[in-house]
Amino acid sequence: MRKVIRATPLCKFLRYCNDSPLDKTVLDCGAGGDDPPLRLFLESGYKTVGIEISEVSLNETRKFCKEFGLRLNMFKGDMRKLPFKNETFSFVYTYNSIHMMSKKNVAVAMSEIKRVLKTNGLCFVNFVSADEPPHAGAVEINKGEFLKKDIPWHGVKCPNIDSYFEDDAPDVYFSNFKVVHKEKRIIERIIEGKKVLQAYIDYIAKKK
Ligand SMILES: C[S@@+](CC[C@H](N)C(=O)[O-])C[C@H]1O[C@@H](n2cnc3c(N)ncnc32)[C@H](O)[C@@H]1O
Repeated sequence: MRKVIRATPLCKFLRYCNDSPLDKTVLDCGAGGDDPPLRLFLESGYKTVGIEISEVSLNETRKFCKEFGLRLNMFKGDMRKLPFKNETFSFVYTYNSIHMMSKKNVAVAMSEIKRVLKTNGLCFVNFVSADEPPHAGAVEINKGEFLKKDIPWHGVKCPNIDSYFEDDAPDVYFSNFKVVHKEKRIIERIIEGKKVLQAYIDYIAKKK
């Protein structure tokens, strides 16, 4: 039996997308891994495209797709330079991925997401909240930017930075959007016997 989807906040996004009159085209930025959330959209009848920077994550997805006979249409790419024309997709999201870069690069990725999204299209982006403790041993190099020294970054050679945001700080990325849903999630989980706190700020926004 196939696993129940892990990325449950995207179910909320899917409901907004289903209510939109735009055609069912969706892009996932940072789409790889062993449980690709893009399958939620494929199984709901969407034309899916995913881009992923890491070959390791892509291979995990290929394995998953082979096992379950899925065609997600995922390929190698960087959300900071999306290889698509302006206004290509009705829906664009990035889930648990955009925090894996400096704030300068987050701004670049956000402007790319806006560019490839159609007018009246919807995007979902989640940011990691400053309430979440940084990785052990990470060093703050700028406010809310932590350099992780010894953790491999999915096989990709680039600065190993995580960005954390105060509650309203990401509002700045949505100046040409109408934010239709904003939600802060605080999660306490036990991972390998240890209590772990995770905190996210989710946005669903419509491009004006
Ligand atoms: C924590 S994983 C989440 C994967 C997937 N979204 C999920 O929810 O299962 C983050 C993914 O984002 C990818 N990623 C990070 N920066 C990226 C970038 N600039 N462009 C594309 N993918 C990126 C990483 O390689 C990694 O596979």
